[in-house]
Amino acid sequence: MEAAVASTGAGLRCSMPKQQQERQRRSARVGFVSQPQPRAVRCMRLPLPDARAYVAGAAKRGEAGSVGVERKRLAVFVSGGGSNFRAIHEAALGGEVNGDVVALVTDKPGCGGAEHARGNGIPVIVFPKSKSVPEGVSTDELLKSLRELRVDFILLAGYLKLIPVELVQAYPKSILNIHPSLLPAFGGKGYYGMKVHKAVITSGARYSGPTVHFVDEHFDTGRILAQRVVPVLANDTPEQLAARVLHEEHQVYVEAVAALCEDRIVWREDGVPLMRSQTNTEEYT
Ligand code: GRF
Repeated sequence: MEAAVASTGAGLRCSMPKQQQERQRRSARVGFVSQPQPRAVRCMRLPLPDARAYVAGAAKRGEAGSVGVERKRLAVFVSGGGSNFRAIHEAALGGEVNGDVVALVTDKPGCGGAEHARGNGIPVIVFPKSKSVPEGVSTDELLKSLRELRVDFILLAGYLKLIPVELVQAYPKSILNIHPSLLPAFGGKGYYGMKVHKAVITSGARYSGPTVHFVDEHFDTGRILAQRVVPVLANDTPEQLAARVLHEEHQVYVEAVAALCEDRIVWREDGVPLMRSQTNTEEYT
């Protein structure tokens, strides 16, 4: 049950349940500053020149796959164990993701993610070059390799270095990251690994969960694409919370990458990316 338009952009028109509209009208009358958040918003598709151009551009690059769009070529960036990388790789092999992992990029050549890539015949690129990792490549060399491999999308999965601006500019709207908190809370420089979960518990927050977001020039500030919520329990240790969040990470990252690889990301006029449902082309999350 829904009624009139609640929020619009030229791209999407979203409607909300009648009860919710009434609540908003009432709270507006008594002068609340903040409006109640929509519990469930259904969105209707309207002409979106930006999204159409993006999809058309992507469609030019290759063959159409089983879902009617070409299979995408993915580079995954990892610094650690790589459980998110493995989840994405398995989803690609199993057909849930319309793409293939064609490169693994790491600043830690001995990490679990790099080992998994080698064991599966995926080329490993070490980046960046540093004193401790002299075999690493420069930004220019990395860009050249990614171009040679015809990489469509870059997926950061526990990669701890800042992505150089040249890479961000070379892959507009094409780099995703997963972060283990509900951004914009508990993000930014210094918030990585167990530090995030310790900070969440110390804050007293009752909910946490992963965020998938597009990557810009800064840590954890790019546009949010998807989130999942998990409870923070009264006697949680950071490790217990991390395990609960990680379980959701694998699912939400695979869902977001599946949407990306099927050209199902739609950019609302205000710059927020939405995922179009696989089954109902008029629904977005
Ligand atoms: C995950 O918690 C992810 O959110 C963060 O780094 C961790 C990587 O875990 N960015 P894994 O290497 O994928 O197991």
